[in-house]
Amino acid sequence: MDGPSGSGKSSASRGVARALGFRYLDTGAMYRAITWWMLEQGVDLADPAAIAGRAGEPVLAIGTDPDAPGVSVGGTDVAAAIRTREVTSAVSAVSAVPEVRARLVAEQRALIGDGDIVVEGRDIGTVVAPGAPVKVYLTASPEARARRRNAELAGTTVEAQRAEMARRDTLDSTRKADPLVMAADAVELDTTELNLDEVISEVLRLVKERT
Ligand code: DC
Repeated sequence: MDGPSGSGKSSASRGVARALGFRYLDTGAMYRAITWWMLEQGVDLADPAAIAGRAGEPVLAIGTDPDAPGVSVGGTDVAAAIRTREVTSAVSAVSAVPEVRARLVAEQRALIGDGDIVVEGRDIGTVVAPGAPVKVYLTASPEARARRRNAELAGTTVEAQRAEMARRDTLDSTRKADPLVMAADAVELDTTELNLDEVISEVLRLVKERT
């Protein structure tokens, strides 16, 4: 399941994984965890070479239980810390660095293993798992996405959210390494007018049809 932030990927992916009895992998949490560590270490995030030079250092552990997908770096639980605004605004710079992506894509493929897993991100259908039997690309109007994100975050306005998301979308879609694009064989699902149960049902229908 790929798509921009606020498209409803996380809730839908977890819901689909639960319904199928599958594992679940949030690849965005991995990019966020590395970003959290880089910030902690005081790495200059304006310097891609500095990021690349330390990309292999942090030891990451991520769970694949859709009900409790924990994430830790070097044994420190960072599940809450990776959702702060500081990490959110720094993550695009870190995830644009090819050395970071190469490392995480390899770890993601290892976690995916033989499958029976719902994986969410930006490049899953195009790069991480091009042979996935079902690929869904979620979209939603900028207003709907900003509203959803706003409901998750305290102390921000919908307008500020929309501006921040537009900035991140541009960075994520125009970077050289594995930009956010829809896979040619993905099914696009616009969630603007759908509630969570409707999105999950539609994805389950696709899974049934294609597997
Ligand atoms: O899904 P999210 O908002 O938690 O993702 C955080 C950032 O990580 C996002 O701005 C882009 C990056 N990301 C990526 O480059 N590739 C992925 N497969 C997942 C996320």
